Amino acid sequence: MSGIHASASGTFRIGGDLEVHRLGFGAMRITGKGIWGEPEHRDRALATLRRLPELGVNFVDTADSYGPFVSEDLIREVLHPYADGMVIATKGGLTRHGPDIWKPVGRPEYLRQCVLMSLRRLGVERIDLWQLHRIDPAVPRDEQFDAIRAMQREGLIRHVGLSEVNVEEIEAASAYFPVTTVQNLYNLGNRQSEAVLDYAEQHGIGFIPWFPLAAGKLAAEGSVLSKIAGKLHASNGEVALAWLLKRSPVMLPIPGTGDPAHLAENVKAASLALSDEDFEALEHAAK
Ligand SMILES: NC(=O)c1ccc[n+]([C@@H]2O[C@H](COP(=O)([O-])OP(=O)(O)OC[C@H]3O[C@@H](n4cnc5c(N)ncnc54)[C@H](OP(=O)(O)O)[C@@H]3O)[C@@H](O)[C@H]2O)c1
Repeated sequence: MSGIHASASGTFRIGGDLEVHRLGFGAMRITGKGIWGEPEHRDRALATLRRLPELGVNFVDTADSYGPFVSEDLIREVLHPYADGMVIATKGGLTRHGPDIWKPVGRPEYLRQCVLMSLRRLGVERIDLWQLHRIDPAVPRDEQFDAIRAMQREGLIRHVGLSEVNVEEIEAASAYFPVTTVQNLYNLGNRQSEAVLDYAEQHGIGFIPWFPLAAGKLAAEGSVLSKIAGKLHASNGEVALAWLLKRSPVMLPIPGTGDPAHLAENVKAASLALSDEDFEALEHAAK
């Protein structure tokens, strides 16, 4: 085991039985510009994926719409057959019409196609964690939840997660299936999902903050964040990740990169212990 290892971030059991190291990896950045097409530096993207098991990262977040399909295809190319304990979480329900264009489609027959095609691309018989990328506002949400429940009962999906939802939506979905994770925009500088995080913690739901490295103005030169980073000989990003890990035991950050050196730096955050004092200082600066 190298000195840098994701196990130092502790573990979380998704759905109570699927254990992962809390510091994971977001596989959106191994695709082309605008999350469209092949990555510009394919070798570098492949090398990043190859490093994951060596660094103890066993929670990988992807989606059929990343590329589209490119991220899932590369994950299979590099990581299949998956090592014991490696969890590949994917998502469906967003369609792509060009770089940076994302449109939800939640019709039951489309959600089913998403799951069946992700199974084929990832080379698995059951998806460990399948997340509804967005609830489609144009389709009754109960129809979307019902289709997901049917696929879970059929054994195509082990655990279900949601993305960009509020507490009321989590509760509505919970009538159909246990909501095991929620993936919302959340970072040191953007705390709009604080109520969802608190709800997730109370209910043992994994909270997956996307865009975890962003800290906005908090990361400016001379800021509290950069001073703490300097003191700890760490980067601003490492401190932002360490803050997330300390914020809640259900927090599962998935920093995304297509660069193996950046990956190693991000995993270093797993063993960066923030003092209560530094944690509070960051909390105070964010407010
Ligand atoms: N559910 C949703 O709606 C949703 C939306 C967006 C993202 N996501 C998921 O969340 C994951 C994380 O979000 P994100 O990728 O948008 O944001 P992020 O992880 O906060 O930041 C990624 C950006 O930071 C750069 N970066 C990463 N590590 C770095 C380092 N050590 N030093 C310098 N730059 C670094 C990356 O570029 P390099 O490649 O050059 O390192 C990339 O531009 C995604 O990969 C995806 O799986 C979900």
